[in-house]
Amino acid sequence: MRGLVVFVSAVCLASAQHQALIDYLERRLLAIEDRISLWHEQATRYASELRELKQHMVSQLENLDKEKETLRVSLDSMGMRVDRVERELDYLETQNGAQPCVDVDDKLIEQQVTQVQEKQKTKYFKLTDCNDMLSTIKAMKILKRLGGSKGMWTRDTGGGSGKVFIFNGTDEDTIFEFATVQEFTRSQGLSDSRQLKLPSAWRGTGHIVYNNHAYIVIQEDELTLVKYDLRNKSVVGSAVFPDQDYIPVYSLSPETVMDLAVDEEGLWVIYSTLENEQHISLAKIDTRSLSIEQTWDTSCPRQNAEAAFVICGTLYVVYNSEQPGRSHVQCLFDVNDMVSNDDAPLIYFPKRYGAHASLKYNPLEQLLYAWDDGFQILYKLVMKKKLEV
Ligand SMILES: *[C@@H]1O[C@H](CO)[C@@H](O)[C@H](O)[C@H]1NC(C)=O
Ligand SMILES: *[C@@H]1O[C@H](CO)[C@@H](O)[C@H](O)[C@H]1NC(C)=O
Repeated sequence: MRGLVVFVSAVCLASAQHQALIDYLERRLLAIEDRISLWHEQATRYASELRELKQHMVSQLENLDKEKETLRVSLDSMGMRVDRVERELDYLETQNGAQPCVDVDDKLIEQQVTQVQEKQKTKYFKLTDCNDMLSTIKAMKILKRLGGSKGMWTRDTGGGSGKVFIFNGTDEDTIFEFATVQEFTRSQGLSDSRQLKLPSAWRGTGHIVYNNHAYIVIQEDELTLVKYDLRNKSVVGSAVFPDQDYIPVYSLSPETVMDLAVDEEGLWVIYSTLENEQHISLAKIDTRSLSIEQTWDTSCPRQNAEAAFVICGTLYVVYNSEQPGRSHVQCLFDVNDMVSNDDAPLIYFPKRYGAHASLKYNPLEQLLYAWDDGFQILYKLVMKKKLEV
């Protein structure tokens, strides 16, 4: 009997333990089921969200496609319109004929060209960009008193030698040469110099020295401009002017028929003719052929004039003043038409002994070499720009 009781209790114990296990497993299963249903729920939600997103994207892409299509259509129609306009223009051109318009334009251009060419006949073409005009005379330096009351002295106005040349008197035939200005001022007299004897005597004080050549005015049977090579003492060119047409260029300097000048632009001749005897004329000369390139009649009077010089294509005429012992620049003429005589500054020379027998401008130094009653004088010039007038 006792054995059965033990057995029953053992069975009871065993079934109780079993039950507990089942309960436990059941709880676990429930929990897992809960979580599965939760995942399921979430997965469905994600899926539907994805689906919505996809639908949204698809509709957007469809819209883009539609817009692309409308763009293409409107581009096509633009292209067609351009084609049509081009065809219409072609048609209009064949109908109206564009050729006559072009002809008219050509004629206009031809007219303009001839007008310009006509103007260019009188226009002077500057060789340099020199734009200076005389502003005032800053200083004067008397270097020497040598020779007669009339004469001319100058340095070579071209790049070359820097040598100094003395043309004493108005009817001589010997040029005196000094190597430098210092040598000239230190010299005891003309005997210290190199002497160059010309084949014939010069006339007046109009000569100039430019690039190792002397340009000398000679008046024997005819009025002649002679080009003389100072290095080997030989005449290398000459030009003859009809003697009867020319009159002394300055009323106060009767020996000088023609006056030569050098400036930044080259060689000029200052002269007067019977045809225009009240006024001074100006010409540009070609140094190689000695031919006249261009001439100008200026409004500067000959009357009471004693000398003249050219700076940057502008002629400055020097007159005897009412004031005793003075002379002054009173008339100018610009071949470039940049300054008129109204712009002429009234410039007095500091002092004068007799009259200026010659005034030679040196463009390399902006100095005037003056011969005044046997004194050799240097004037230092101050320039300003022509446009600042
Ligand atoms: C300079 O020229 C003057 C006038 O022609 C003359 O009297 C004088 O003798 C000349 N002087 C020299 C050194 O030649
Ligand atoms: C002097 O030199 C120039 C060139 O410099 C030349 O044409 C001329 O023939 C020369 N004359 C003499 C005499 O040597």
